[in-house]
Amino acid sequence: MRNLNISIFASGTGSNFEAILKAKKKGLIKSTIALLITNNSQCGAVEIARKNSIDVVHISRKVYPELSEEKYTEIFLNVLKTYNIDFIVLAGYMKLLPPSLVDEYENRIINIHPALLPSFGGKGMYGINVHRAVLESGVKVTGITIHFVNKEYDKGRIIFQKCVEIYPDDDEYSLQKRVLKYEHKYYPLIISELEKHLL
Ligand code: GAR
Repeated sequence: MRNLNISIFASGTGSNFEAILKAKKKGLIKSTIALLITNNSQCGAVEIARKNSIDVVHISRKVYPELSEEKYTEIFLNVLKTYNIDFIVLAGYMKLLPPSLVDEYENRIINIHPALLPSFGGKGMYGINVHRAVLESGVKVTGITIHFVNKEYDKGRIIFQKCVEIYPDDDEYSLQKRVLKYEHKYYPLIISELEKHLL
């Protein structure tokens, strides 16, 4: 039986990407991490891909401002087809995916969010902004959510959630650090569970 091919989509530091690669090296994840797609060619995730000899494809609206939505989506689909991608894992990817791409990969795209959805999700709710909003709201518990991706920000079917405690002296950075530890632990585990169902 052939291994699945995963494409990571990332825009940021890439610590979740790194955790996924570690899990692959340990044999927890069986799929091949075939590709990184990014909208930010300068981001940390690109550096991590290069160090691990993983191909990087930079696809950004800014590079193709004149293209129709259809042609722009085709760029994604052609790249994913070239690499035989079965499964897409968003790891700090800050852009909404083209709707036809979501249709093409229905139930085969997942995302991780650093809070307990459906709270603290939606447009603009990413990275440190999420932790700031959580602290400002006064809630005493936050967490992580892993979910399928649909056409709206953070609205797809929830696969997994885990609570993370908030301490009275937390600021957004200490909270982010604690939440990321949970992300790094559980995202690879969920990927390894899902890949068994997709085989
Ligand atoms: C992670 O906390 C991830 O949950 C979050 O961005 C961070 C990326 O960190 N994603 C979102 O906020 C999506 N709405 P990383 O680049 O170090 O993995």
